[in-house]
Amino acid sequence: MTTPMVEIFPDKTALVQKALQEVVALVGDAVAHQGFCTLALAGGSTPKPLYQQLSQANLPWDKLYLFWGDERYVPIEHPDSNAGMAKQVWLDRVPVPSCQVFVTPTEVGAPEQSAQSYETTLRSVFGRLQGLAPDEVPQFDLILLGMGDDGHTASLFPFTPALQVRDRLVTVGNKDGEPRITFTVPLINRSRCVMFLAAGANKRAALQQIFAPQADDQAYPARLIRPVGALRWLLDADAVENLSLPRTDA
Ligand code: 6PG
Repeated sequence: MTTPMVEIFPDKTALVQKALQEVVALVGDAVAHQGFCTLALAGGSTPKPLYQQLSQANLPWDKLYLFWGDERYVPIEHPDSNAGMAKQVWLDRVPVPSCQVFVTPTEVGAPEQSAQSYETTLRSVFGRLQGLAPDEVPQFDLILLGMGDDGHTASLFPFTPALQVRDRLVTVGNKDGEPRITFTVPLINRSRCVMFLAAGANKRAALQQIFAPQADDQAYPARLIRPVGALRWLLDADAVENLSLPRTDA
């Protein structure tokens, strides 16, 4: 794993502007090199302004393949749906082929069935795109992630069984008894680039633990994210005030 690249911005607006630039550049590079780009989107509130900005971007929409790193187990019309939010502010406003937008199935019965179905879809799509062997882990070009104030990421919550899953791509997460569908650690760590977006003073304590030389990975699951590719943290000043973090600002 490469050393994390940590960039700190004066406010969330500046953070989002940088994220926009980086996503646009990464998509362009991937498409130039391989003819397509595979992206996994983060949920929660932080990425919403980024998605709104991406709706105005000039991207090779027909070359994008989009997934979600995690999803609440609710219908897409539900206000908590990560896919519902991204489609509302971005994907329904641009000409990305709907057959290349892979929404997590949340109405197939049990959450376990949803996880299995999404994994099957992942393998099928990456099999076509990357000639993936059945036991290979798909490699995303970019996985966007947020981080909760408890140090969770995607729907990998502290001290939950999902943190231990190593033989699947997608599993069932658990937030206070509420089922979530989430990428597993191995799938995330296979990515060419993982980009965390985190803003706000409520993230300070968790960030200190995540960047501490020693801390419990089970208590702060974002520590488990050590991708084979680039690991980037885009943070705002509120999230890092008075914290000693490794800075590798460009
Ligand atoms: C979700 C997200 C989750 C989110 C963090 C941060 O489904 O909620 O995937 O991991 O990224 O909870 O959320 P905020 O961006 O709202 O702080």
